[in-house]
Amino acid sequence: MTLTGRHVLLGVSGGIASYKACTLARRLADAGAVVDVVLTASAAEFVRPVTFEALVGRPALGSLWDPGRALAHIALARDSAVAVLAPATANLLARAAAGIADDLLTAILLARTGPVLAAPAMNDAMYAHPATQANLAILAARGWRFVGPVPGPLAEGPSDRPGRMSEPEEIFLEIERAVRAPASKLAGKAVLVTAGPTREALDPIRVLSNRSSGRQGFALAEAAFARGADVTLVAGPTALTPPYGCRVDRVDSTAELAAAVARHLPSADVLLMAAAPADFRPATTDAKKRTRAAGDLSLTLAPTPDVLVGTRDRRKPGALAVGFAYETDDGETNARAKLAAKGLDLVVLNLAEEGAGAEGETNRLTLVSAEGVTAGPLETKRQAAERVLDAVERLL
Ligand code: CTP
Repeated sequence: MTLTGRHVLLGVSGGIASYKACTLARRLADAGAVVDVVLTASAAEFVRPVTFEALVGRPALGSLWDPGRALAHIALARDSAVAVLAPATANLLARAAAGIADDLLTAILLARTGPVLAAPAMNDAMYAHPATQANLAILAARGWRFVGPVPGPLAEGPSDRPGRMSEPEEIFLEIERAVRAPASKLAGKAVLVTAGPTREALDPIRVLSNRSSGRQGFALAEAAFARGADVTLVAGPTALTPPYGCRVDRVDSTAELAAAVARHLPSADVLLMAAAPADFRPATTDAKKRTRAAGDLSLTLAPTPDVLVGTRDRRKPGALAVGFAYETDDGETNARAKLAAKGLDLVVLNLAEEGAGAEGETNRLTLVSAEGVTAGPLETKRQAAERVLDAVERLL
């Protein structure tokens, strides 16, 4: 739970996307956040306050005039780590930009000095209107941050212009980043992550590859984004959806991975090499598909360059380098050897076992560094990523 005990104010204004605010409220509560939901009168026409109350386990607020809550707007403005507006309608943005405070939510916004994150949602023409654009510019100049809107289907029909609210999971990640970055040493750091397998062509159709899914690397990229890092993900072939907020550079072979890493290396403060590059490639690649009728096939394999070792003398001074080792036996001994041989600050050891490793959703990682050896439990790959980044922050 990455937001345990953190106060989040969720302001909901009246647009059809307010039904998605329920998913967001639930996601925040599941992450351990203490969520105060404040609805405008029109939001309460779309979704009843009791729905939010049931989802977050706290009363949902809507009025400046509730008995016993005379100064609630001041406390709510002051005490939350972030104030999130999802959806933020054109009308709410206009009232906030003008400094109007005629209901509980706008009164909170006027009293607030801490971070505000808004997820605009409205008809695409309303979003494009100069009045809305001017209001957005005013609010951005006051330090508000925005997530979306994105092009995509609106309640009134398809659209290829922005207006649709970002998905709740993306808004959640921006919230996590706003709450966690101020206390993270990774905030503002350039983090380079490699993930997934690579594949080496035998002919135009066949490849040599491995079972890496890329999930652990993608989880690391997402977790680094959630801590405020500027993340570049170099990803081999995987079917996974790219993580939100990260720059993604797709590669296929180990040589392409090496070239992409070389491009991003000069600015990287932290290097997380979670990819499982193919260690061998066919010594020759056939120009045409070899048919079965040709009989037995013998392959000569040539080693590929070790990408991580190749970075050793070209890393930014002070950059922290983390290698990953997937082992079947003698894990700790091999990990210690790789720590020294590859010039690393940390080796993340992954022992092949049931329920952990390349293809599954969970992992059991052991961290090997000059600090010593720490074995982790079987956990989700995102939880494992948090464990790795905690260690990286200790070493930074
Ligand atoms: N690695 C790399 N380039 C390669 C092979 C591996 O950069 N061609 C990186 C991986 O991303 C990982 C680390 O090196 O961070 C260790 O990978 P692993 O396959 O365990 O180690 P190898 O050095 O290939 O050793 P071996 O297969 O002999 O155990």
